[in-house]
Order: sequence, then structure tokens, then C-alpha cells
Amino acid sequence: MLGEKNILIGVTGGIAAYKVVEVASRFKKSGANVKVMMTRNATEFVSPRTFQEITGNAVSVEMFGDAANFHVAHISLANWADVILIAPATANFLAKAAHGIADDLLTTTILAFDKKILIAPAMNTKMFENPATQENLKILKARGMKILEPAIGNLACGTSGKGRLPEPEEIFAAVEKIFAPKILSGKKILVTAGGTVEAIDPVRYIGNRSSGRMGFEIAKAAVSAGAQVILISGKSELAPPKNLKFVKVEAATQMREAVLKEFDSVDAVIMSAAVADYRVKNPAAQKIKKSSETLTLELVKNPDILKELGTLKKSQVLVGFAAETQNILEYANKKLVEKNLDFIVANDVTADGAGFGVATNIATIIWRGGEVETFDKMSKAALAEKIIERVADLLEKDKKFFPLNDNQ
Ligand code: C5P
Repeated sequence: MLGEKNILIGVTGGIAAYKVVEVASRFKKSGANVKVMMTRNATEFVSPRTFQEITGNAVSVEMFGDAANFHVAHISLANWADVILIAPATANFLAKAAHGIADDLLTTTILAFDKKILIAPAMNTKMFENPATQENLKILKARGMKILEPAIGNLACGTSGKGRLPEPEEIFAAVEKIFAPKILSGKKILVTAGGTVEAIDPVRYIGNRSSGRMGFEIAKAAVSAGAQVILISGKSELAPPKNLKFVKVEAATQMREAVLKEFDSVDAVIMSAAVADYRVKNPAAQKIKKSSETLTLELVKNPDILKELGTLKKSQVLVGFAAETQNILEYANKKLVEKNLDFIVANDVTADGAGFGVATNIATIIWRGGEVETFDKMSKAALAEKIIERVADLLEKDKKFFPLNDNQ
């Protein structure tokens, strides 16, 4: 998978630098083009010549070499590389990278690079656990860099704890994973989230307790899986996730319109929105004044968006949610059949650690055909990944059952 890829390894000044010789060698053997840049401190641990012999390429250390032959090395290295691996990454490197300090070739190259960066920190346990280091790691992670957790074991300083550079095969596998084909690449996924808002008058509305969290996590997981994602959201306090098309709606009727507009062009719909079953028949044009002792609102049924999709469905995978407070499996199964779904994610919203507003969920998936899959309590992000894996499986199976002939 790494054949023809350009891998740039940044080696900083830690004792574990010697292990990276093995990492470079593995990349080289797998057919990748490998270049190494080192900080001056790193050259105290391993000679640049060693990396040069292993990779067959000159090793870059100095920002300013021979003035007569000066070329902008950090830019050309950054342009050349498909991925940068920093191993071992010292606490000093993490601090500099987190704050945009560019005082040598390696840190300058990082700033000039806009593709995937993988960082393998290795240091003494106390240095690793120091809040300064932890905050720097958090910053780097938030910017999309992948951090490889250090291993636990004996450290060069004579102590034992978390801080060891992971083994070369593990680092190799993490880089390989970056280039692995993503399970939803080339697919278009529509996700709905949040609760709908049904107007009573210009000030009040009928809403529900949905936070939008489950749907937002599903949309994020679909983006990470390589899909083109449309997230149609009702009410939610959450910030729109990145790298997707975000459509904000209020009423169920608006959500229906937005969903139908996209339906023909998508491969799957995951309907996690809490859509109001009823809306006010005649919302007041002006704020209702409190004059009478009682107030009666006449409600009419909203369209069932998912049920409609179930009748329109061609090859799309359809996933629904069933938030229940009793007879979970029975009700969920009924919805699965009525709405012509591929699977339904059911949960008891009254259970501890499940349902509205909380970060975890306890779900059961019921498949078309009756098979039931139960999950332990897990974060909504983890459950989202499971749901996305299953959608990808179904889309993959479709390909197998209906292979396109050569003329198509
Ligand atoms: O029938 P019930 O509302 O419990 O079904 C829940 C599932 O149907 C959810 O996936 C929800 O997003 C969807 N739904 C819908 N339109 C409605 C009500 C629910 O698409 N009016």
C-alpha cells in the first residue's frame, strides 16, 4: 500500500531515535520513497549517514547549507512528501509545533506542510504527563495531526512508565492506515439530526429533548470514512462539523423538503433526527395573549419522512432510529417493517447513560430479517462508527449482488 508514496520522517533528539532506523528500513522495503530530516540534537543519537544508507537519500539537518547551492529545502521537502512522520517526537518538538515556532529545518517544514502528519512522542513519563506536554498534544490533535500513544515500559532514564516509542511495526501500521482506502470513499451519505421545531406562534414552539449529538457524531464518522456528507439538522446547540454540507431546518415539513431534495443523489440516509409527529394546525400570526383560562391547540399529523423514503427507495440504504420508553424491540421492529428500513437503531431513552443529551448510548440494532445485535454502553462517537461500518458493509454487499457489467 505504501509503494510509490513519499514518506518524510522527522527525527528529533530522543534516545529512541535508533528505533526509527528500523522504521525507515521497513518503509523502504515496502517500496516507499523515504527521506529523513533531523534536528541537530537528533544527530547526537544517530548519525545522518545511517539514515542516508538506509533510505538512499540525503538527510536534511541544516536550514542554511552551502550559500552557493541554496534552495528552499523546507518547502521542497514539504511539497515532496505525502505524509510526515515525526518519530521520536520530543516534548520540545511538541511545544514548538503546537505554537508554530519554526527555528530549524524540521519545524519549518512542518509549518509548510498541509497533508497528514503523524506524531510518535517518546520521553520520560513525567515529561509526557506534564500538563504543558498534554496541552500541546491536545492542540496538535485538534489541528488534525494523528498522535500515536506512547507505550508503557522501561525507559532510557532508568524508570518505567508511559513514554516509550511504540515498536517499529506499530508505527509502520499507523502510517499504512493513513493510505488505506476509506470504507465510504466515493459514497454520498445523508444524515439528519436534532429535534424539529413546530411553531405555535412567532415566539413559542413545540420541541423535544434531542441534542443532535448522535446524528452529529454519525455525520462526523461518515466524513472520516471518506464519504461526501450532507447533515440536515433541526434544533441543536452543537457547532456544525467540518468538511460536510450543513443544512439547518426548523419544522418537520422543512426537513422533509430538504431531505427529498437530496434523496435521489445519495447512497444512504441515516435518519437520527427527532421529528415531531404532530404540528400546530394553524400557528398564530401574532403572539398569543394570555386571556382565557385554557388554551387548546389543534395538532395535525406531520409527514413521516422516513416512511416516505421507504416508498421512494431504489438502491439507497435506509437507517432509522427508534427512541422508546417501553417495549423497545417490538416497537422498533414494527417501525423497521413499516418504513422499509435496512436496519433500525433502537434505544431506551429512559435508561441511565442512554438517550437525550448524554454523551453515551446503549443501542440495539434490528436488521431487516429480524436479526438483533446488542451493544454495551458506549460513547455516541463509538456507536456512530459502528453504524457507519454497517452502512458501508451494506453498500459493499450491494456491489457484490448487482455487479455492473463491462458496458456500464
Ligand atoms: O415512528 P417514529 O417517529 O418513532 O420513528 C422514528 C424514526 O423515524 C426516526 O429515524 C425518525 O428520524 C424518523 N421519523 C421521520 N418522520 C417523522 C417521524 C419520525 O422521518 N415524522
